[in-house]
Amino acid sequence: MSDNLGSMRRTHHCGELGADDIGKQVVLMGWVQRRRDHGGVIFVDLRDREGLTQVVFNPDVNPQVHAKAHAIRSEFVLAVRGRVDPRPEGMVNPKLKTGAIEVMASELKILNAAATPPFLIEESIEVSENVRLSHRHQDLRRPKLQRNLIARHHAAAAVRQYLNDSGFLDIETPFLTRSTPEGARDYLVPSRVNQGQFYALPQSPQIFKQLLMISGFDRYYQIVRCFRDEDLRADRQPEFTQIDLEMSFAGEEDVMAVAEGMMARMFQVVLGLSIPTPFPRLSYAEALGRYGLDKPDTRFDLHLADISDIVADSEFKVFAEVVKKGGVVKVLNAKGCIDMSRKEIDDLTAFAAVYRAKGLAWIKVRDGQWQSPIAKFFTEEKKTAMAKRADMQPGDLILFVADQPQIANEALGQLRNHLGSRLGLIDEKTYNFIWITHFPLMEYDETEKRYQALHHPFTAPLEEDYPLLETDPLSVRSRAYDLVLNGAEVGGGSIRIHSRRLQERVFQALGLAAEEYEEKFGFLLSALESGAPPHGGIAFGFDRLMAILCEEPSIRDVIAFPKTQKAACLLTGAPSSATGDQLNELAIRLRKL
Ligand code: AMO
Ligand code: AMP
Repeated sequence: MSDNLGSMRRTHHCGELGADDIGKQVVLMGWVQRRRDHGGVIFVDLRDREGLTQVVFNPDVNPQVHAKAHAIRSEFVLAVRGRVDPRPEGMVNPKLKTGAIEVMASELKILNAAATPPFLIEESIEVSENVRLSHRHQDLRRPKLQRNLIARHHAAAAVRQYLNDSGFLDIETPFLTRSTPEGARDYLVPSRVNQGQFYALPQSPQIFKQLLMISGFDRYYQIVRCFRDEDLRADRQPEFTQIDLEMSFAGEEDVMAVAEGMMARMFQVVLGLSIPTPFPRLSYAEALGRYGLDKPDTRFDLHLADISDIVADSEFKVFAEVVKKGGVVKVLNAKGCIDMSRKEIDDLTAFAAVYRAKGLAWIKVRDGQWQSPIAKFFTEEKKTAMAKRADMQPGDLILFVADQPQIANEALGQLRNHLGSRLGLIDEKTYNFIWITHFPLMEYDETEKRYQALHHPFTAPLEEDYPLLETDPLSVRSRAYDLVLNGAEVGGGSIRIHSRRLQERVFQALGLAAEEYEEKFGFLLSALESGAPPHGGIAFGFDRLMAILCEEPSIRDVIAFPKTQKAACLLTGAPSSATGDQLNELAIRLRKL
């Protein structure tokens, strides 16, 4: 084994050689994908981030180099000098970019041996994610993950280019800061210098970017890590990356136009696709009405309808009671699903129950009649009204949930997505963006028994709803908008409050006492009095966008070193315990666990 490269200097990546290079002398360096010994001639597929090249060790051409090649094993690191030759007749591999050529080796350096890897370094492998994450440096050698991270680099570069060209300034904001109100739990960092006190890692740069607007920086952006201690899922990580931006003297239209241009650029650069802009818009109320969810997947055409008014005085007690108690009766028209069996409908009922639906009534629309256990409860007049409302056609299966609006919408909305994929209605190659606007400013948190900002407390209410702040806070609509792509929330933002008076009214409507908001946000309130321009912005979930662009079901596969569902890094073993000395310095004593 040689410890240095000697006279070898890499001339090309393994994946980039083609017919145009035939006859050239090249030096390649990379990893051994596999070695095949064809009774004399040894073939080695040499791999690097750009792909594979077949290297040939021929005893008739160079016996010494060929003899050395016997030692080569998978994942060894090699440097090879040789000539680019056309592959012999019949040996061309059209599936490989470098499939028309091979490199006839004239010099070989084994730069390093390698232990047998814990799994095959291949496009797709059947290995548990925990094993992959424990050996992430090897997992990342797989072509799929290499492509994902390269795509991520190009996407970030395209975003920066686009925002730089649009006059945005990249400005960093602190990680060691005070609690930022995005609604998740904070990660705390103990202070050694100020014992007993803690920094919070930012859940987003929200307050700092507003302060930058107040300081006159006009257009800011940052591709920035955010930290949220929340329950993790396939689309959530404890640290994740936002493309964060803020603009002064801007309204909704300005922010949305920048966002649309940026998305179009990203899709052009990464997928070579032209995404049509502007994106369609739907109010929050319309989204819940038609799709049941505030992040509707608009790639397929199944819809919900509200039939509460029609069934309120019907004979079917379950429905009538729910409406009397302020609930709703909503239906999902599963178009053309009349042939679903009892068992299949039972499975749908079980699915809806996960979202707390207490039942799933159904009807099958045959030519001229309804087939259903509940048909008998409705007069012809009501049936006609329902059929019209839900666009019932012969062949349709209609699914009903009667409950509080939140439960009925969620259960049918999730059922809609479930049916969309089960029935194969989703074209995986379509990218449907949609803006959701006019979210409620706040919601009531049943567990905490208090009002909570739906977005964050700096979001401006709609001007026409100001008077409701004191009288009916739950009806106040906000100037917040979310960007939804194929049913995933990929961005969220708002026009902000830029007057102290209005900010205080909103804090009060949220049930915060003056001392409390002064203590937490006094610095922001006085900044608002110092000459704050109207401003607004948005932040995009970069990991989520990349997962969609790379067709990965989990954001972990577009992040180099992600954490598990239990917020652990299996590679480094973080989090880990601290030494007694470290804890002493921080004046922290652990309770016995
Ligand atoms: P918000 O909280 O909506 O807004 O976050 C913006 C976007 O970040 C993504 N996201 C996440 N991605 C991965 N893991 C997570 N744990 C996670 N949490 C959020 C989502 C989301 O749409 N400061 C405001 C933005 C603003 O008002 O300008 C904010 O952070 O895609
Ligand atoms: P029951 O009278 O309880 O046997 O219910 C008759 C049908 O109504 C069954 O198909 C139940 O699944 C359905 N059902 C019961 N409660 C609800 C509800 N809250 N929403 C929708 N359907 C329901």
